[in-house]
Amino acid sequence: MTHRLLDSGRNTPLTDTTQHRTTVQDEERRAYVATIACLADAVQAKDPYTHGHCERVSHYARAAAERLGLSDAELRVTCYAALLHDVGKIGVSDGVLNKKGPLLPDERKLVEAHVRIGHDLLNGVPALREVACAVLYHHERFDGNGYPEGLSGDRIPMASRIVAVVDAYCAMLDERSYKAAYPPEKARAELIRCSGSQFDPRIVPAVLRAIDEVDAEVAEEAHAGVMFTPFSDVLPPLQAS
Ligand SMILES: [Fe+2]
Repeated sequence: MTHRLLDSGRNTPLTDTTQHRTTVQDEERRAYVATIACLADAVQAKDPYTHGHCERVSHYARAAAERLGLSDAELRVTCYAALLHDVGKIGVSDGVLNKKGPLLPDERKLVEAHVRIGHDLLNGVPALREVACAVLYHHERFDGNGYPEGLSGDRIPMASRIVAVVDAYCAMLDERSYKAAYPPEKARAELIRCSGSQFDPRIVPAVLRAIDEVDAEVAEEAHAGVMFTPFSDVLPPLQAS
């Protein structure tokens, strides 16, 4: 016989109440994830150069976070921050974002504002507050010469430091209006060259190994004819804070 405790106030079986609460929480989390996937898609639709970029960044960032032995909570923040790091580009005009040629100082400021816009968008969702913080700092540099606040070293959130390395690698691989795509070896050499200045030197080796691992998995899946699974379908569940 199953023993079911009663909630004395409402005479409702506690197992039912708990079950209901869990179902509602699961539904809320699924709704968050669906919203997040939409936001990531919206950014990619706005900026043709980011098409597929956020997905790639997310796969590499997750593998690097696992290699670095991060806690489940840090891993979760890293995954969502990687997928949404450039969501603030929604608030930057297309003319500036897709400008061919170098940006003027005022235009650069508008582009740099994407970290604050992204933070403010995500910070309104309680379960995404830490993700919002990681998004805010994903253009900080390990040596303190980044933006928006010039944070350095461990003062930069771990998720932001991981996204910074992976984002730079993926951006180098992409062709942009102002540059040709780098071959992977040249992009890897650049990460190593900037280790300790732009990037956390403890994170660069983990990212390089993560890239090898993910690339090998993707090649294996392609060889086997397996469809590539969108990262938004395999995100770890969000924890409401
Ligand atoms: Fe960015």
